[in-house]
Amino acid sequence: MKILVTGGTGYIGSHTVVELQNKGFDVVIVDNLSNSKIEVVDKIEKITGKRPEIEVFDLVDREKTSGFFKRHNDINGVIHFAAYKAVGESVEKPLKYYRNNLVSLLNILESMIETGVENLVFSSSCTVYGQPDELPVSEKAPIKKAESPYGNTKQISEEIIQDTVKVEPVKAIALRYFNPIGAHESALIGELPLGVPNNLVPFITQTAVGIRDELKVFGDDYNTPDGTAIRDYIHVVDLAKAHVVAIDRMINNKMKDKFEVFNLGTGNGYSVLDVIKSFEKVSGVKLNYRIVGRRPGDVEKVWANPEFSNKELGWKAEKGLDEMMESAWKWQLELQKEQNNQ
Ligand code: UD1
Repeated sequence: MKILVTGGTGYIGSHTVVELQNKGFDVVIVDNLSNSKIEVVDKIEKITGKRPEIEVFDLVDREKTSGFFKRHNDINGVIHFAAYKAVGESVEKPLKYYRNNLVSLLNILESMIETGVENLVFSSSCTVYGQPDELPVSEKAPIKKAESPYGNTKQISEEIIQDTVKVEPVKAIALRYFNPIGAHESALIGELPLGVPNNLVPFITQTAVGIRDELKVFGDDYNTPDGTAIRDYIHVVDLAKAHVVAIDRMINNKMKDKFEVFNLGTGNGYSVLDVIKSFEKVSGVKLNYRIVGRRPGDVEKVWANPEFSNKELGWKAEKGLDEMMESAWKWQLELQKEQNNQ
């Protein structure tokens, strides 16, 4: 079985390639390396003992995408990660986000139909729920108006896929991620944000090693026990494993509908201060942080109801917050070592 993983050198993509190969799948990656490095392929080979194929091009290019699918006529399924994901930047440059995230999806769907590839797993986000009225949030919760162009691309993508599966011989699973953090236990792959990180955990670990002066905690006046915002953090390896289950489900015809949606979260909500405390505990490093005002567009609290995923997929996130922070820290220290050796 051969799976195309778009964005396979990225953060979640690379961990998923590892899990797919561990389960015996062949993988071909397509990535334009706009936010990742080609060396990730060496690391994947080191972990799994198997080198995934890779082609470097932009899926926004219709001709190249179509040509790729025609050449690789033995693909059984596609896991589509490749997308831009910085919320703030999407507000500044909406068209960049709409073009990249939507045109690549259109090209992939058209090429799949052209070449008879039937199975698509799509990277979606809990951002589609906005601030849910009820917590924990289940897949049945209404989709709220997106807070950012990035969030809107996820909503529109799900709609495009849903309309397509109604009339074409394609089926799809949208996986709505909560907050993926942590890194592979080998510390060979992990999150590698280029420039200043937007997300909490890379900012914490970079502050701890002195790359950043301080962590700004965005708001302590939320309606939560300690006043800071709450999220459902999930270990990236747990998340990656869910993709293998989803692909299996499609290939083995276990889907109950041509379009299915699953929450990928742990069901536990942690505040920003909880995350900091866990980091300090596992690393033994005192973090320099300061409370500042809220970040525009942030929701107050969101965590998953993972029951449907647990039951239907037979998948469950296993790793706890301390384990997540420990692996993120180990990865940061490994990066420092690499840099010092250069
Ligand atoms: C955001 C997006 C989510 C997207 C994900 C991808 C929103 C509401 N959510 O998740 O849709 O899929 O990024 O990258 O935009 N924080 C700090 N200081 C920092 C950084 C973060 O206090 O320097 C806080 C945030 O306010 C938030 C929490 O940490 O409460 C997590 O933030 P982050 O890691 O950026 O993820 P989300 O905003 O939840």
